Amino acid sequence: LCSSIGKTKRRLVKVSVCATLIKAYYVYEPIPDRIEERWKLMLTNSFFRTLSHLADLCESAGLKDYMDVMYVITLLEKIVPVSDEHVKVTEEKFDGVEVVLYQPKRQGGDAGLRRAVIYLHGGGWCLGSSRMSPYDLLARKIVTELDAVVLSVEYRLAPAHHFPVPYEDVHRVVKYFLQKGVLAQYSVDPGRVAVSGDSAGGNLAAAVSQQVQNDQSTNTYTNTILMTLQKESGQQIKLRAQALLYPVLQALDLKTPSYQQNKDMPILPRTLMVRFWSEYFTSNKALFRAMMANSHNSPESSRLLKFVNWSAFLPEAYHKEYNYSAPAVAQGTEGEAAGTDGPSQSFADPRASPLLVPDADLHSLPKAYILTCEYDVLRDDGIMYATRLRAAGVEVTHQHYDTGFHGALMFTVWPTDFLIARRMTDNYVKWLKDNL
Ligand SMILES: *[C@@H]1O[C@H](CO)[C@@H](O)[C@H](O)[C@H]1NC(C)=O
Ligand SMILES: *[C@@H]1O[C@H](CO)[C@@H](O)[C@H](O)[C@H]1NC(C)=O
Repeated sequence: LCSSIGKTKRRLVKVSVCATLIKAYYVYEPIPDRIEERWKLMLTNSFFRTLSHLADLCESAGLKDYMDVMYVITLLEKIVPVSDEHVKVTEEKFDGVEVVLYQPKRQGGDAGLRRAVIYLHGGGWCLGSSRMSPYDLLARKIVTELDAVVLSVEYRLAPAHHFPVPYEDVHRVVKYFLQKGVLAQYSVDPGRVAVSGDSAGGNLAAAVSQQVQNDQSTNTYTNTILMTLQKESGQQIKLRAQALLYPVLQALDLKTPSYQQNKDMPILPRTLMVRFWSEYFTSNKALFRAMMANSHNSPESSRLLKFVNWSAFLPEAYHKEYNYSAPAVAQGTEGEAAGTDGPSQSFADPRASPLLVPDADLHSLPKAYILTCEYDVLRDDGIMYATRLRAAGVEVTHQHYDTGFHGALMFTVWPTDFLIARRMTDNYVKWLKDNL
């Protein structure tokens, strides 16, 4: 009897040790005390971490690609967007790209013209969909509070479609929508169109804002017929505003203070962000490994490091205990570390890393709203862009959340609804209301 009790006891001890280890591993995170609703965030994050480990296992076993497994996150929140009493929802194709279009049902006022927001969802260019419930809710909120049209773009995703496909899908939609005839069809005021997005969507929004401005200056010089037409109609359609929510803006330095401070933070640990970056360009794991070591820069890309020099563009307060050292540069054109030639070098393309454009290309950009979170690897990307845009004379509203974490805006739906998500949404929509 005694020996059997002993066995049971030992078994119980074993079970409880295992449970503790699992709990420690999956649930406990070094989440700063300042973060509100800490336990809720730990539990939410344990789901993401478990899924990520499962995805790793599946990939190592050769069963499924990592991102295919991670796509479960998108599927769990996917809905069919339908009209309601205030909002008319339709699915369209703009120049071949799927979009979900939200229009107010109420007739426009006397003037009849409305504002419009082109929205780009997040998900590291690999995950996410405009048809996820948090994006659907956000679109409806913008429609009803601004009496605006919202265009949510279902751009194609990596790794099935590497850079520049997702970016080009977005560019095509924006170009298509900004035509006078198309805007008129949806009763949109050509002077009041904004582009916006969160995370990788913020990256696409920043990049396309730069591109639209370039398209126009190119037109002005090379296409006199178009210029004359635009003059005659008195209409050169530009974006009025860009709203970037914890955006990803550069792939050259993946060891900024925020990348170091937040490398294990919930929702977007550094490994996952590096994974998204490398998968955006290539499925070759050499780039992932080089980016993890921050040794992926080539002699060519290293000439652009001056645009992401956090020692220069990050206010002192954010330097904390970190000391600047420029990322290592892989020598030679060959070798795994450099990610070599071909698509891998695209990380230095400003259409992928909008922080890399020279100052002269910044000054005519539309006014900007930039949201950053303290507990986010991408914090410094956003802050550096705010610094550079301001220095170039662009009107910038920078809202920094001291207790914010990456992806917070997505957590508006029970049971993973966070108070901070509501505050962020309200402040963001208010900015659009006042500035668009
Ligand atoms: C970064 O900026 C600092 C000054 O803030 C400067 O000393 C350093 O040389 C710069 N490095 C690069 C790579 O631009
Ligand atoms: C940065 O430099 C200071 C002074 O040289 C040193 O005390 C500190 O440990 C360094 N910080 C890191 C993170 O290496």
